[in-house]
Amino acid sequence: MLLWSLWTWAACLVLGVATQSTQGILDLVQRRLPNHVNDFQFQLLANGTGNGTKPVNDNYIVSSTSDGKILVQGNSLSALSRGLHRYLTDVVHVDIFWYIGSQLDVGPSTLPTLNSPITGSSIVPWRYHFNAVTFSYTAAFWTWEYWELELDWLALRGVNLPLAWVGQEKILVEVFQEIGLTNNEIISYFSGPAFQSWNRFGNIQGSWGGELPMEWIDNQSELQKNITKRMVELGMTPVLPCFTGFVPRAISRVLPNATIVNGSDWNDFPAKYTNVTFLEPGDPSFAGLQKSFISKQADALGNITHIYTLDQYNENTPYSGDLDYLRNVSYNTWQSLKAADPEAIWMMQGWLFFSLSSFWTIDRIEAYLGGVEENNDMIVIDLFSETAPQWQKTNSYFGKSWLWCELHNFGGSLGLYGQIMNITINPIEALTNSSSLIGFGLTMEGQEGNEIVYDLLLDQAWSESPIETATYFYNWVTRRYAGNGIIPNDLYTAWEMMRTTVYNNTNPSIVAATKSIFELTPNITGMFRTNMSYSPDVVISAFHLMFNAAQSNEDLWNNPGYQYDMVDVTRQFFSDTFDDAYRSLITQYMSSNASNTTLSTLGKNLTSLLTTLDSVLLTNPAFSLSTWLSAARAATSNVTLQNFYEYDARNQITLWGPDGEISDYASKSWGGLLSGYYVPRWQIFVNYLLEVLIKSYNYTELSGRLLRFELGWQTQGLNGTVQQTLQGEAENLQNILEGVVLKYR
Ligand SMILES: *[C@@H]1O[C@H](CO)[C@@H](O)[C@H](O)[C@H]1NC(C)=O
Ligand SMILES: *[C@@H]1O[C@H](CO)[C@@H](O)[C@H](O)[C@H]1NC(C)=O
Ligand SMILES: *[C@@H]1O[C@H](CO)[C@@H](O)[C@H](O)[C@H]1NC(C)=O
Ligand SMILES: *[C@@H]1O[C@H](CO)[C@@H](O)[C@H](O)[C@H]1NC(C)=O
Ligand SMILES: *[C@@H]1O[C@H](CO)[C@@H](O)[C@H](O)[C@H]1NC(C)=O
Ligand SMILES: *[C@@H]1O[C@H](CO)[C@@H](O)[C@H](O)[C@H]1NC(C)=O
Ligand SMILES: *[C@@H]1O[C@H](CO)[C@@H](O)[C@H](O)[C@H]1NC(C)=O
Ligand SMILES: *[C@@H]1O[C@H](CO)[C@@H](O)[C@H](O)[C@H]1NC(C)=O
Ligand SMILES: *[C@@H]1O[C@H](CO)[C@@H](O)[C@H](O)[C@H]1NC(C)=O
Ligand SMILES: *[C@@H]1O[C@H](CO)[C@@H](O)[C@H](O)[C@H]1NC(C)=O
Ligand SMILES: *[C@@H]1O[C@H](CO)[C@@H](O)[C@H](O)[C@H]1NC(C)=O
Ligand SMILES: *[C@@H]1O[C@H](CO)[C@@H](O)[C@H](O)[C@H]1NC(C)=O
Repeated sequence: MLLWSLWTWAACLVLGVATQSTQGILDLVQRRLPNHVNDFQFQLLANGTGNGTKPVNDNYIVSSTSDGKILVQGNSLSALSRGLHRYLTDVVHVDIFWYIGSQLDVGPSTLPTLNSPITGSSIVPWRYHFNAVTFSYTAAFWTWEYWELELDWLALRGVNLPLAWVGQEKILVEVFQEIGLTNNEIISYFSGPAFQSWNRFGNIQGSWGGELPMEWIDNQSELQKNITKRMVELGMTPVLPCFTGFVPRAISRVLPNATIVNGSDWNDFPAKYTNVTFLEPGDPSFAGLQKSFISKQADALGNITHIYTLDQYNENTPYSGDLDYLRNVSYNTWQSLKAADPEAIWMMQGWLFFSLSSFWTIDRIEAYLGGVEENNDMIVIDLFSETAPQWQKTNSYFGKSWLWCELHNFGGSLGLYGQIMNITINPIEALTNSSSLIGFGLTMEGQEGNEIVYDLLLDQAWSESPIETATYFYNWVTRRYAGNGIIPNDLYTAWEMMRTTVYNNTNPSIVAATKSIFELTPNITGMFRTNMSYSPDVVISAFHLMFNAAQSNEDLWNNPGYQYDMVDVTRQFFSDTFDDAYRSLITQYMSSNASNTTLSTLGKNLTSLLTTLDSVLLTNPAFSLSTWLSAARAATSNVTLQNFYEYDARNQITLWGPDGEISDYASKSWGGLLSGYYVPRWQIFVNYLLEVLIKSYNYTELSGRLLRFELGWQTQGLNGTVQQTLQGEAENLQNILEGVVLKYR
């Protein structure tokens, strides 16, 4: 009853399916399985609705027809694509993966028939995807072609509620022009292509190193049209942006009486780039701007959703902690949405209640959420449910609808990591204990690596009891390496070892994917990893088992899944080994009889590890800096802008601001970044240690040298020279790893 109106609304969608076309799913088959277009039939069934007390869930049934086709029936487009995926993964043993691409067409040319039907049912009506910041960390330079792959990945896994956060600046430009702001006043408020998420959040404003051009704004807006159209064709409900209240400072020129407050300072950014102006939702102009935004967006994209993402205090401290103030802010925001779209539902990330928990007392959370007087009009994303769930302490967000989500990594850290227990057991417990839980989802900061544990939660949304992970991993491995003959047992053994260790972290002090220490600014203290969730021997064994697998099946070297995982496991192996090499260096430096020659040898050991790893990483575009930088450059044909985009792309993964405001937060173990950035940094450090053996260590002096190098790197080799060098270094994975096995057995 609590969620009656939302269910009713979802039910309307479901009841509408009788007239809905299945063309979007047929098109997906055409894209990914062109040889099997005639082997599948899709049929929408308008049944499967809830019975008043249970949410309306998605159901599918897959069977073989008498004329040899695979018939997929379901009560929604999402159910159909999920049913298709179930058949492809469980029966044909093929799948589609990030960075590896679609392997759906590597199965047998004659598809297997089914003796008995396969059925499935979601246990929650919504499956959500994307953290707001994924749009910058990972998707900033995605082309439409990559988006197509991503959207097929989402559809097949049953996601029906994706955030669609591309290109809203175009709408904002028009909204702001309408109230009289000049183009210059508007454009100078926007941040660069790799920093738009935080600009939209009101954390930062303005851009360094260049200005966001209209060309980018227009292209992204066109891209958003493609994305949202495809989402709808695939049966998804896009979550769209709306007017948040963050505005250019010049708002006071055109609306001199508008009530504005300054957002808080964010991290170490100078006031010029933060301290964003916030138009109070109680101001009469707020509702007008909201209406303008939502109607312009509907004109551009169609009336495709009623769910809007809106975050006002994500890492921003509210102007006042007064309960009435907070209640009024959300009440007026909610009213502005309802005035613009009577069926509007406000979605917000719940990260603030965790990250700024000192401000967000229970009273304040209750007041802020309470301003939205209809519980069904708001969906809160419990962003970090596997580690720091907030729904219990907030009494299920005081009745608001909410989503159980897996965050898993910060800034796209690549460390092998998972919590297979918490992401299978905890969401099921939550569903039993909270009647306003309406969906599960993925809210990773960067969409990188560890794909198996993201799959696991999306699959958990279709299983009433916690998934048994031993079988799950076995089946996942089977389809991961499909297409190149028999999968050697060593591969299954390697993954089984990692399942119970690397992917079964239960140590509460390690809450997310780890970062290699070689990605951090060097120092003599504060870098030791005192705590690991697994023994490094596990990864070394997994590496050898996986390498051996290709001794018994050489074709694996041509398998994209194998190529990716082999690089990834080598990366972790070297990352863990680097810890020891670093420890030896520091121990030697600290010892009373430290010698110049020993120290120098230990330093070379450190950099040689990184150089070897760099060559391994460079064999795979998914682990190469040049992929990120060339995508940035490819977004425009104007060389001045290419240089700006490349600078922006480099800046995000290193210094994060004009002067190193947030160093190494989004660091990456990428080929080319190791050799071009991390190695020189460690070299400066080792040289400094050698130099100061006889005098005292002065961190200010060292960090000054490091920063000079880091700042120089931001613009080093712009104009394409870096790409060429990097690609020229890529070598053959098998040869390099044979050398690694000999050297590090
Ligand atoms: C409604 O759903 C509940 C829970 O699944 C079930 O126990 C009950 O039998 C259903 N009622 C009807 C009329 O289908
Ligand atoms: C829909 O109802 C029909 C007839 O009752 C049934 O055969 C079919 O399995 C149902 N479909 C789904 C997807 O539940
Ligand atoms: C949108 O899709 C069309 C193909 O349907 C493509 O030609 C176009 O380049 C895409 N737009 C953008 C901005 O990527
Ligand atoms: C702003 O408020 C002042 C004082 O109430 C009033 O005189 C003025 O007309 C208002 N200006 C605008 C643009 O509404
Ligand atoms: C924030 O911006 C306002 C102008 O909008 C200015 O008055 C204030 O001094 C700024 N705060 C800081 C810390 O610079
Ligand atoms: C969207 O809905 C509004 C209100 O119902 C309507 O005025 C508008 O024409 C619709 N826009 C489109 C593009 O369908
Ligand atoms: C797993 O979930 C429980 C319950 O929320 C929590 O106490 C624990 O810290 C989580 N484990 C990790 C490693 O985050
Ligand atoms: C994960 O680790 C915990 C704690 O060490 C252990 O109790 C549990 O059985 C392990 N689970 C799996 C699936 O290995
Ligand atoms: C680096 O190490 C020095 C010496 O222990 C310490 O004083 C300094 O605070 C450290 N710097 C950072 C950024 O951790
Ligand atoms: C280099 O580091 C590795 C890993 O710690 C270690 O096994 C090896 O012995 C080191 N080599 C030297 C010369 O210290
Ligand atoms: C390239 O972009 C820069 C910066 O926006 C602009 O000043 C210049 O006119 C553009 N050049 C061309 C050829 O469009
Ligand atoms: C160690 O070698 C470096 C150059 O490699 C030199 O600058 C430094 O003075 C040497 N230190 C000692 C104690 O000899």
